[in-house]
Amino acid sequence: MRQSRKLDHIKYSLALADGPGLSGFSDISLVHNCLPNLGWEEINISSSIAGIYINNPLIINAITGGAHDVTAVNEQIAEFACHTHSAMAVGSQYAALEDPEVLQSYRVVREKNPSGIIFANLGAYATPRQAQLAVEMIDAQAIQIHLNVAQELIMTEGDRNFSGYLANIAKIVESVSVPVIVKEVGCGIAKEQAKLLAATGIKAIDVGGMGGTNFLAIEAARSKLNLYPETLSWGIPTAISAIEIMSVLPKHMDMMVSGGIRTALEVIKSLALGGSAVGMATPVIRILQEKDMEFAVSWFNNLLHEIRCYMLLSGAASIKDLSKVPVVISGYTKDWLAARGIDTTQYGIRK
Ligand SMILES: Cc1cc2nc3c(=O)[nH]c(=O)nc-3n(C[C@H](O)[C@H](O)[C@H](O)COP(=O)(O)O)c2cc1C
Repeated sequence: MRQSRKLDHIKYSLALADGPGLSGFSDISLVHNCLPNLGWEEINISSSIAGIYINNPLIINAITGGAHDVTAVNEQIAEFACHTHSAMAVGSQYAALEDPEVLQSYRVVREKNPSGIIFANLGAYATPRQAQLAVEMIDAQAIQIHLNVAQELIMTEGDRNFSGYLANIAKIVESVSVPVIVKEVGCGIAKEQAKLLAATGIKAIDVGGMGGTNFLAIEAARSKLNLYPETLSWGIPTAISAIEIMSVLPKHMDMMVSGGIRTALEVIKSLALGGSAVGMATPVIRILQEKDMEFAVSWFNNLLHEIRCYMLLSGAASIKDLSKVPVVISGYTKDWLAARGIDTTQYGIRK
């Protein structure tokens, strides 16, 4: 069952469009700087997440593993990560903890990218021992713990008990040998839960907001369920969730922004909202499935080129500098944040 689910996830993530809920980035604008006082060579796109240095801020987010048929997909993603010097995460490793036959579908990632930054991935129900095994399985530098309550509820075979997650995450943090990153998978994280998660000792939060790959739609398609657009739009738009998280995130923690990041400008907006990195899943798998490696690498390098252009146009020499450039927040996002007691004017008057 789990193996065919992995294949379905890839199939439907490619077949379905983003949304219908929006990521909220159209409400975010950066202010042009006509006197950047910077040269192209001064632009530095390196960053760090959970204390780990990354060459560029684009992280290939968790996608797959756990079935023989996805070994080749993971091999391709790992080669792409290696060619682009990007960090990547594997998909949930629970399958390999249950069935050693599918271990190779994950291990191939480390084999193809021996010195790369690779994140392990498990659900919040995992035991600390399982989390450590997942890390060792691929010699990971960090582990992502995913939260996906809405997806589980739509899945006929999904979990129905979500209690004890917070305490379990704290136990994982205590016993695992690498930093822990908690991520959503498309419904975002509100400030109340971000605060609770921060107190567990995790090192970073990955927004996983609404507006990109929609696991409610994917699971509905798998189960041939016809859901209303309003149900499929359950969640917090990525841009809004990022601002909610930043409003409570302690200084020693990092935020990764993901969920519908598709363009260089969305990357820049995410970093300007305080992200140290961004995550992308479906665009990477789509380009690797539809084009060849050379095309995919040049698409990625173009994104990095555009990111440098926008940094220069904003007067930001580094990713840290981007979090100080003025950002105008308007429309629905501004209304939402006002209703949530978050002051958006501070973003517009940054110096
Ligand atoms: C085919 C597929 C499988 C995924 N499997 C996992 C997974 O096992 N664990 C996880 O944390 N996220 C998983 N995700 C979610 C992504 O990591 C990411 O949070 C989500 O797709 C939103 O990013 P995007 O809009 O750039 O695709 C998967 C995504 C895709 C497309």
